[in-house]
Formats: sequence, C-alpha cells, structure tokens
Amino acid sequence: MEDIRALFFRKNKAWADKMRASDPEFFIRLHKQQHPKYLWIGCSDSRVSANQVVGLDPGEIFVHRNIANVVVHTDLNCLSVIQYAVEVLKVEHIIVCGHYGCGGVKAAMENQEHGLIDNWLQHIQDVYRTHRAEINALENKNDRYRLLCEKNVIEQVVNVCHTTIIQKAWRKKVNLSIHGWIYSVKNGILNDLGVCISHPDQLGVIYSDHGLSHS
Ligand code: CO
Repeated sequence: MEDIRALFFRKNKAWADKMRASDPEFFIRLHKQQHPKYLWIGCSDSRVSANQVVGLDPGEIFVHRNIANVVVHTDLNCLSVIQYAVEVLKVEHIIVCGHYGCGGVKAAMENQEHGLIDNWLQHIQDVYRTHRAEINALENKNDRYRLLCEKNVIEQVVNVCHTTIIQKAWRKKVNLSIHGWIYSVKNGILNDLGVCISHPDQLGVIYSDHGLSHS
C-alpha cells in the first residue's frame, strides 16, 4: 500500500497543478483574502463534502462540520464559526445541510451504546422526542429514519436562528438568511426542505402548521 504521505502529496501536487493550469492567478488571489459568501454547516460524513456537492472552489464557502450537523448553544466551536462568518466575513446565507443515510441520526434512533458520542447524539434524540408522534406514525422504518434526518436539519436551522449572533444581526437589519437543505448520498442531489428564515418573525411559522413534513 502506498505511503499516506506519498499518496496525499502526489494528489495535492496534481490538484494544485491542475488549478494553476486552468487559472494561473487562482492561488495568488486566494492568498490575499477569502471572500466566501456562504456558511455551510454540514455533517462530517466523508461523502458530503461541502465544496464538492455544490461545485464550489476553495475560497467560496466557509464550512463547519460535525457529526449529524448539530448546532448546540454551548458549542463554542460552532458558535465561533457562525460569529466569524456573520460579523467578519459578512456572509448573507447560512446553509444547514443534512443528508439521508446519516450515521449519527441512525445511531440516535437506535438507542445503543456507543460511548462518548452518545452525549452528542443526545441532541438528535431531543429532536426525535419533539417529533416522535409524527415520525412514529410512519410505518416504514426507513421513512422514519428519513423524516428524522429532515427534522434534525429543521431543528438545527431553528437553533442557528436563536443564537445571539443571528438575533443581533437581524436587529441590526443585516441581510441574513438561514436555509435548511438535505443531500441524498444515493444520487448526489440536494433537496430544499422549504425552510428559509430571513427574519425572526418567520420562526413561529415553522411550528405552526403542516409545511415541513416531507416524506
Ligand atoms: Co451524517
């Protein structure tokens, strides 16, 4: 088996050469400053690489990833990323992107012991508890799993909106929209979950009716 350094360094060199060949100024521009317009909050899953699934180059999207794209109000890491993205980079769109077939969501549904990570998965179990009736009403196990993946995205959109960072930005009339999308590993296609919050008043709508049950 090829040494990991040999493999990665060879691939890196080939990639850098290819980028320079198609745009000789590419790295010179990036070196000066990054100007991403979007923040992506996604899952750490190796199949859901933010730049690749939306076809964006380095420099175009600011990224935070963790297991099952969870936004927790005590997570300094995630909050720092959001603050930097909103207040320094001045992104106008935050995308929470989950994915079907998410191992974190599956583990949270199964209630087995996995060690330390169970503390993290607890946040998804909270989502499950909140939507238990609607999710358990589905007969098919896979449908329940898919719905929890969707509900998890929507809850994390709400969590982003409730952060003091976003509340403050909206108070200052900053243009800022939070989107909830879900990616299908099966076909590489992104789906819009119909959640796009650009104003605190829109938050109430999420829980008030229908709209967001996708099956
Ligand atoms: Co995942």
